[in-house]
Amino acid sequence: MLAVAAHDGVHMARGTVRFFGGSFKACLYVVDGLVIDTGPRTLSSKTIPFFRDFPVDQVALTHLHEDHVGLAHWLSQSKGAEIFIHSQSVPVAVKGSPLPWHRRLCWGSYIPFASRPLPEKIERAHHTFEVISTPGHTEDHVVFYERNKGWLFTGDLFVTPHPVQWDPGESAELYFESLEKVLSLDFDTIFCGHAGIISKNGKDVMRKKFEYLLDLRERVVALYNKGYSLRQIDRTLFPKKPISTYITSGKWSSFHLVESLLESAQDYIKPAELV
Ligand SMILES: [Fe+2]
Repeated sequence: MLAVAAHDGVHMARGTVRFFGGSFKACLYVVDGLVIDTGPRTLSSKTIPFFRDFPVDQVALTHLHEDHVGLAHWLSQSKGAEIFIHSQSVPVAVKGSPLPWHRRLCWGSYIPFASRPLPEKIERAHHTFEVISTPGHTEDHVVFYERNKGWLFTGDLFVTPHPVQWDPGESAELYFESLEKVLSLDFDTIFCGHAGIISKNGKDVMRKKFEYLLDLRERVVALYNKGYSLRQIDRTLFPKKPISTYITSGKWSSFHLVESLLESAQDYIKPAELV
């Protein structure tokens, strides 16, 4: 299933992958001849016909995750598009990355692709997209900011204002820095990699995520200071686990969110107590 929408000249396709009873959505965008994230390979039978309708000569990727780069190889080969990604991911993308089985089945492995490091700005005929480093979800994560329009293409920086699970590699400390950075910008519309287009009050919604994480960290630290272990804190704050936690054998879980929030609070608790 592919839902399409347009907002002020930005075209979005949003596909749904059903996996073990769960329903996972991924969004891609085309604006001014530029693709921003490509969606996963498991949606290619639907997204390739969508891409055929647009002239495209560049692709900007927010990070090297398979649900964002799955059609990069196809866009390069079929459209002759230049692919841009964070400089640290250029040598990785050309070799490919092994995936855990659940991600391989859900999104599909991406075909390795040649790319170039993202410049500071992507200049198109009608728009300029500033590239802003926003690590936290991954080290290579960036967002694309169209200052004149107040647009922010956020990859996986937003996704939801109330996250309840993270991957082990996600860093709360970096998330907080990145969220503070984007909240210093003037924007109203969010183009999210999973939630779609939030056309009004995007900054307020992003601030809600920042405040939620700050509040959650306070609760994690309070329980920790009462002597709770990480597992006890996790069970107290998140007693019900979503199906994705079971599917991924706990890799995508509230435990990693709790763990990373506690690590990010090390300024005001004793580092030795974190172990
Ligand atoms: Fe991601």
